[in-house]
Amino acid sequence: MYGLVNRAIEQLVVSLKGPAAWEEICTAADWPDGGFVAMQTYDDAVTYRLVGAVSHTLGLTPEQVLRAFGEYWILYTAEEGYGDMLAMCGNDLIGFLHGMNQMHARIEASLPDIRPPHFAVKELGPTEFELTYASKREGLAPMVEGLISGLAKRFGQRVDIQHTAQRSAQAPRDCFLIKILQ
Ligand code: HEM
Repeated sequence: MYGLVNRAIEQLVVSLKGPAAWEEICTAADWPDGGFVAMQTYDDAVTYRLVGAVSHTLGLTPEQVLRAFGEYWILYTAEEGYGDMLAMCGNDLIGFLHGMNQMHARIEASLPDIRPPHFAVKELGPTEFELTYASKREGLAPMVEGLISGLAKRFGQRVDIQHTAQRSAQAPRDCFLIKILQ
């Protein structure tokens, strides 16, 4: 993944626990020099190792780390030069999710090696939606939950999110039921 992602993990850890914790995590993740270049790609294994080390050091499950990271990503990208892009993509959660594939496609102009996920939104009722998430990577569904809740916070919306289907060999997609609460 692009270093932008690993740098966001770094910022999240530093904001919660300070730079010493991040150093400890880098050592545990076999990345002793620390530091990532935002526009450079790194092996996905490095990101997974960082998540594992954050989980160990902070006493959270990897799923909790990914959820927290997903929420943080919305704040981080807004601060790291992608604020206008986020602002262009809408003012409510569902409208925003409808435009997610196009948004990642636009990001490809500056990050040409990106391997973005694919989302599809289906309306089940006035306040109920199914989000389908497909990715070349495994295990990132909790990050999607965090992203949805980070977006909802951004738009001042309250939501309930349920992970209704896990990807498997037969169905290589995760599904979420999103309820917009009044
Ligand atoms: C302007 C803001 C955003 C930027 C700059 C951005 C960029 C990126 C980048 C660079 C990656 C790493 C993929 C790679 O290096 O191959 C990534 C992954 C990902 N992005 Fe975005 N993204 C943004 C917003 C979002 C939002 C709002 C969502 C959610 C709805 C989202 C969902 C994801 C997911 C789930 C991944 C994990 C990769 C995977 O599933 O395979 N992104 N994004």
